[in-house]
Amino acid sequence: MPIVASIRLIPSRRPRSGRSEDGASRHPSSSCPNDPGMISTDISSSNHRPHPLPYLNRRTPPSIARALDPTITPNPLISSSIDFFPAFLIRNRSWVKRYRTLCLVSFLRNGFQLAAKICKLLFSHFKEINHAGAGGLWAELVSNRGFEAGGPNTPSNINPWSIIGNESFISVSTDRTSCFERNKVALRMEVFCDSKGSIVCPPNGVGIYNPGYWGMNIEQGKTYKVILHVRSSESVNISVSLTSSDGLQKLASTNRIAAASDVSNWTKMEFLLQSEGTNSNSRLQLTTNKKGVIWFDQVSVMPLDTYKGHGFRKELASMLEDLKPRYMRFPGGCFVEGEWLRNAFRWRATIGSWEERPGHFGDVWMYWTDDGLGYFEFLQLAEDLGAFPIWVINNGISHNDEVDTTDISPFVQEILNGIEFARGSPNSTWGSARAAMGHPEPFQLNYVAIGNEDCGKKFYQGNYLKFYCAIKATYPDINIISNCDGSSRQLDHRADLYDFHIYTSARNLFSMNTQFDHTSRTGPKVFVSEYAVTGSDAGTGSLLAALAEAGFLIGLERNSDVVQMASYAPLFVNANDRRWNPDAIVFNSWQQYGTPSYWVQHFFKESSGATLHPTTIQANASNSLVASAITWQSSVDNSEYLKIKIVNFGNDIVNLKISVAGLQNAVNSVGSTKTVLTSSNLMDENSFEEPNKVMPVQTSLPNAGAQMDVVISPYSVTSFDLSLAQEEYRSAI
Ligand code: AHR
Repeated sequence: MPIVASIRLIPSRRPRSGRSEDGASRHPSSSCPNDPGMISTDISSSNHRPHPLPYLNRRTPPSIARALDPTITPNPLISSSIDFFPAFLIRNRSWVKRYRTLCLVSFLRNGFQLAAKICKLLFSHFKEINHAGAGGLWAELVSNRGFEAGGPNTPSNINPWSIIGNESFISVSTDRTSCFERNKVALRMEVFCDSKGSIVCPPNGVGIYNPGYWGMNIEQGKTYKVILHVRSSESVNISVSLTSSDGLQKLASTNRIAAASDVSNWTKMEFLLQSEGTNSNSRLQLTTNKKGVIWFDQVSVMPLDTYKGHGFRKELASMLEDLKPRYMRFPGGCFVEGEWLRNAFRWRATIGSWEERPGHFGDVWMYWTDDGLGYFEFLQLAEDLGAFPIWVINNGISHNDEVDTTDISPFVQEILNGIEFARGSPNSTWGSARAAMGHPEPFQLNYVAIGNEDCGKKFYQGNYLKFYCAIKATYPDINIISNCDGSSRQLDHRADLYDFHIYTSARNLFSMNTQFDHTSRTGPKVFVSEYAVTGSDAGTGSLLAALAEAGFLIGLERNSDVVQMASYAPLFVNANDRRWNPDAIVFNSWQQYGTPSYWVQHFFKESSGATLHPTTIQANASNSLVASAITWQSSVDNSEYLKIKIVNFGNDIVNLKISVAGLQNAVNSVGSTKTVLTSSNLMDENSFEEPNKVMPVQTSLPNAGAQMDVVISPYSVTSFDLSLAQEEYRSAI
């Protein structure tokens, strides 16, 4: 039997002004010293406008709702109809006036809705895990570029560097003679052979090589910048080459001869190498056939061509950009915390010249990062993506140790310094450090998350409050995110938003599309900062997982008055170091693809700032269907679109009658499309071999109109994008 879906569309408007909501609860222990009173919350859009719509919440009595529009009656079929309403407000001028005056928007769950609301659900996220940054998004090709990964004590392990030549020709060790104060370890290479004499070097010389992160991707015609620091008491003759993994294929090479006087002190050498071939499993070689001792330190190979010229791997950053991210949460995740505090991410150790960054071993995901992708670069990436940064800070808590609240002040000061680094004037102490890195303008840091998944820890609440008060005292406009879930009970401390993390089975996540229907509308907003289907339903990125996530996201979208942001997690995985499954974007040195979960996010990239219309589905047994609808304006063609998203989480084909009421204008069938994500098998995944196996497929929609009979595939997410005749639409508003 066909399912009937009636959709009513209402162009809505933003009221002229709005009132910010205070997210802070009034628990006595949650107050700050010299507390001036209510902390106002501004968590509107990326350009930080005030919250435009204080909603008439779900507790609004039906009588009031009906008073606003007597023609609306409660719909007993709430479980199964799709409706959009705001049109009646537009047609009836008195209601328009009232709507404007009262700034009322309701989103009632008891069967009728009065008007549309602005959907402010924003997406994106980044965390260092799975070599997402080091050996991933950050385009540096050398791994362990300063020889620090083996630890500060020498001799040390130089992995993944290796020696070219046997021990009769060469000996390599580390010592602490570097010119870089914060990372003293350098590599000492003693060469016993020579171009002639008793021990003649092999024809290609001896030396060291670095394979990067599971092979460097070197491409024909592309240029790579090689930097190294060298010291020797004798003259040197060094070959710098990019070669195949066995060294036999030379892709690019140059030679540098320097007199002893030129290298007797540490000397920086720079080369531009243009590759004559392509090999995705290449390595950097530093070789010589001259007897003597050479020290090397801080060796880098970067492609010249990076995302916006700021050092990010272009294809990966572009995949991120394609999602139109509105915020960037960084640097983790558990990466922020560390198993132990001594191994946690410290922002100050990641700024300044790359040669001076000590790097650190992330003991949660068990790998070394040179921290070329540091605090500054994260802020830069957010800016380049047009996203606002959300800095997750360590609040003195790791997985295994905690700083007592009485001792937390230095940690608080460290974070205040970090905020000053991001947004202080170029004349301030830390703002000048940012300016020295080439960014005199402040970054727009307006969100700070205090910790990651630390709510239950002994000193969390105490530490949280110290950070909260100190940050708010200096930067009252910064939105503070708590780790404590306030969705089912009120937080006992102040916050502008709270984290909500969910990793679960597909069925469970799908059913959570109603999770926030009954969440309080008056407290802090929800930040679903990590969500994903995990476990056997997900594999390494299945269609099943993606569909459940789509259903969940529709639920978030429909609750976007209280859920402000949502991010799938983790975003990236280097296939050579899968620490966490599944992930949105899978890559190796030269390939990348999106998992179905990545493609689901594309269905929501127009949601931020769009107008959300109330939706219900009329159907029997519609538990496997969820839907939402937004209108949004394309910046490409300036056209207005109505986007109706429907997730079918069941095995039946659904014949659906969509009826859009309230349209003030015609639907252009030309330009209207239907996009479907599905596959023949629920557990289908994409792979390097079949990167496009599960991908959204877009087709034209010749029967686009206010009334449409459509067929929804089993286990699918479908988007009907109706092009609206813009002029008429606008004049009606
Ligand atoms: O996303 C993987 C991990 O899951 C994150 O690092 C952590 O925040 C969460 O537990």
